[in-house]
Amino acid sequence: MDQPSPQAHEHDVIVIGAGGAGLRAAIEASAGGCTVGLICKSLLGKAHTVMAEGGVAAAMANVDERDSWRVHFADTMRGGQYLNNWRMAELHAKEAPARVRELEAWGAVFDRTKDGRILQRNFGGHRYPRLAHVGDRTGLEMIRTLQDHGIHRGIEVFMEMTVVALLKDGERVVGALGYDRERGRFRVWRAKAVVMATGGIGKAFKITSNSWEYTGDGHTLAYNAGADLLDMEFVQFHPTGMVWPPSVRGILVTEGVRGEGGVLRNREGRRFMFDDIPENYRNQTAKDEEEGWRYVTGDKSANRPPELLTRDHVARCINREVKAGRGSPHGGVFLDIAWIKARLPNSEEHIKKKLPSMYHQFMTLAGIDITKVPMEVGPTTHYIMGGVRVDGDTQMSTVPGLFAAGEVAAGLHGANRLGGNSLSDLIVFGQRAGEHAARFAKTNGAGAVNSAQVEGEMQRALAPFDRGEATVGGDNAFRVQQDLQNVMQELVGIVRLEDEMLRAVEEIAKLKARAAVVGVTGHREYNPGWHTAIDLGNLLTVSEAITRAAIERKESRGAQFREDYPEKSAEYGKFNIVLRRGGDGEMRVIREPVRPLPAELKQVVEENA
Ligand code: FUM
Repeated sequence: MDQPSPQAHEHDVIVIGAGGAGLRAAIEASAGGCTVGLICKSLLGKAHTVMAEGGVAAAMANVDERDSWRVHFADTMRGGQYLNNWRMAELHAKEAPARVRELEAWGAVFDRTKDGRILQRNFGGHRYPRLAHVGDRTGLEMIRTLQDHGIHRGIEVFMEMTVVALLKDGERVVGALGYDRERGRFRVWRAKAVVMATGGIGKAFKITSNSWEYTGDGHTLAYNAGADLLDMEFVQFHPTGMVWPPSVRGILVTEGVRGEGGVLRNREGRRFMFDDIPENYRNQTAKDEEEGWRYVTGDKSANRPPELLTRDHVARCINREVKAGRGSPHGGVFLDIAWIKARLPNSEEHIKKKLPSMYHQFMTLAGIDITKVPMEVGPTTHYIMGGVRVDGDTQMSTVPGLFAAGEVAAGLHGANRLGGNSLSDLIVFGQRAGEHAARFAKTNGAGAVNSAQVEGEMQRALAPFDRGEATVGGDNAFRVQQDLQNVMQELVGIVRLEDEMLRAVEEIAKLKARAAVVGVTGHREYNPGWHTAIDLGNLLTVSEAITRAAIERKESRGAQFREDYPEKSAEYGKFNIVLRRGGDGEMRVIREPVRPLPAELKQVVEENA
């Protein structure tokens, strides 16, 4: 079918995705003197960044003067089990404080210490209270601030757009093809550099904190354009999502609840997190128990209760309790912040002030007053550490002209991310991606858009309409997506086994075959069936990448727990796993040696072990 020519746009830099990383990149590219187009799938302001509620990690040492970039670096490397791109971890730890202060200068209103500095709270895996926060709405405040700041720079914003392909001139990326979701009309964005900032893949799983947009679009667009994906086996299951009522299952319950003193209990009322405490944590914990009240008021950095162990650990402990029949009535465990009334006379106001969103979320969605009774919570797919392989300094991918920042990029977090390190990741590497994309745009002329590629991609995107009404057995895109989510949840979830994952690979192949023939009816205007058919291709690609990488890594490390290989292996600790698209379209799984730490950073790690 002949298509009208797509509407054409031209910018020096385009940024795909308008969460924290995308907004920060767009601001920086614009500050670098470039014209910038910012493309988002949803409405501006509706980004998963708002789901990083509890705070942004930056070693500002406002609450504990012992903190420094060195400790933050060591914590991040330990959390990532030393598979991190150490250069990114170094830059992140060094630059996060400046990026947070910059946000403050741009109008972000952080909570305050008594002497007027930015207040910082405890979070899992961080040695000192390090999370600058705005109650439990930190991500939201960050988006508001970046939007306010960015909007005055003349950035052109394209809302409710789906990007279906990156356009290439030889090896180099020179733009993107997409369509507006409202009318279904195609657009071509021509650009000298492209920044990918599309976030994650949560919708590949049944239970997730992610909203509908998180379908692995950026991962897949980059992969299809020839970029490497890295560390895809590492999917973070946040320990605390809502479990009840069913319609809201998976919605995030911020780690900030535990950061403010919330404790986890099983149905017997026991704090089961004490059952499995790594040795180096044990001594401090006994002291924390005694001094628990001081921790609640946030004035004692030495307190580290076992609820604030890393997310992978806490999620597995919750899983263990539920499987052993010691869970809560709806298949989770209890998270109790109300207990602090025994220690704090004004506990009700304190909870409402520090955790206003949690208070309203549970009141409105579950009819629970968290100042009085415990919440029911369980693990939820929250984040992927894996993504587009980038250069640590510039954020350019292995494809010239294509940059990536934020969740869609890999490296900083290694095998597991510490809470709060995502918000700092977004602003540190969003800034860097924007700066270097602008430089690339300035030093490279505009490439040529290949009209045959545009035509071919438009036809591929419209193919579900050509197939029309339901295919064999009345199949449709929604059903395939649901089946994929079940496969990933059941077979490639928190606890993994080789047999199950091999089964998942077979199931994904069958789902790919089904996706290739699903048809859609109706017209192109706001057609959810069509949108889902397009998303499916992305979801299937990232699911295959996660599964293949998880099979390849025959050990348990960070967010990957293999019941058949429950220990960490020195051998597997020596490489990252790369997924690369072969010339035949098949996914290649490649072991890539981890770059050794330079001596001075090794020393930093050793000093802060
Ligand atoms: O629990 C949270 O507030 C999430 C934070 C994060 O993922 O960094």
